[in-house]
Amino acid sequence: MKKIKWTQKHLLGLKDLTAQEITIILDTAKSFVEISERAIKKVPTLRGKTICNFFFEPSTRTRASFEIAEKRLSADTLNIAGASSSLVKGESVKDMARNIEALKVDMIVIRHSSSGIPHQLSHYVNASIINAGDGINEHPTQALLDMFTMREKKGTIKGLNVSLIGDILHSRVVRSNIWGLTKLGAQVTVCGPRTLIPAGIEQLGVRVTNNVIEAVEGADAIMLLRIQRERQDEIFFPTIREYSRTFQVNSQVLKNAKKNVIIMHPGPINRGVELADDIADSAYSVILNQVTNGIAVRMAVLYLLSGVKQEEGAAK
Ligand code: CP
Repeated sequence: MKKIKWTQKHLLGLKDLTAQEITIILDTAKSFVEISERAIKKVPTLRGKTICNFFFEPSTRTRASFEIAEKRLSADTLNIAGASSSLVKGESVKDMARNIEALKVDMIVIRHSSSGIPHQLSHYVNASIINAGDGINEHPTQALLDMFTMREKKGTIKGLNVSLIGDILHSRVVRSNIWGLTKLGAQVTVCGPRTLIPAGIEQLGVRVTNNVIEAVEGADAIMLLRIQRERQDEIFFPTIREYSRTFQVNSQVLKNAKKNVIIMHPGPINRGVELADDIADSAYSVILNQVTNGIAVRMAVLYLLSGVKQEEGAAK
């Protein structure tokens, strides 16, 4: 059995990983897919490990997916939400994490509205930290499941044309996807209103356009991003109606795309804004495949970071 070379203790972002490390996660995830197809969806891989899920921002997909992944690997899990924690009494995230670690927690999964909190925590505690989305910085497991889905549908990431359309400025999903996709050899285009494209993003090796037709032409995968109103304290475009008239991907826009293009979205979708209702549910859409693949990808991440003896064929 071939040994897997994995040395990272934390998953803070795809900026920090090499192409080889990203490929190890994707390959390991592939071996975990069939566990969720069994009648008894459980393996003993992380028996005896305790994982704390800290979610200080709303989440449906990421939180459920991590918890399911942890349970399928037989880990013991603990869920702490911001509103029900002692943060509301004035405790700092650092103190809270150190207190939780004193309960002998092995891994901490954290989502927070401030960029950089997972990185800070990784200096304060000995547990492995997994970034489940920090501010506008990164959402590494989302990008990993996106890449896993692209690889599943298109066979490879290398040489793919991937267009990311929407609120590029406030999207941590975009940043993680840019790091991951460019490292694995995809050509990435970002598209949105000028006000929602960060200055200098071309330096990350992506093409920029403000024209949605240009963005969809030649794309193998199109990923829509919602307008993140909760992160905007100023007006970036006149009205939602005008935004959707200019940037929505709908059947008219898709006439300019490849016949076998796949439509992706990290969720939650604002139907009728960035993506037309019928296209979200069409044969082009792999949005629910992304959600399903998130379990295997998160199982792979938890397994690799756990330090459990790593060998190919871990899914037993
Ligand atoms: N994709 C994503 O992060 O969704 P949630 O906010 O529901 O976790």
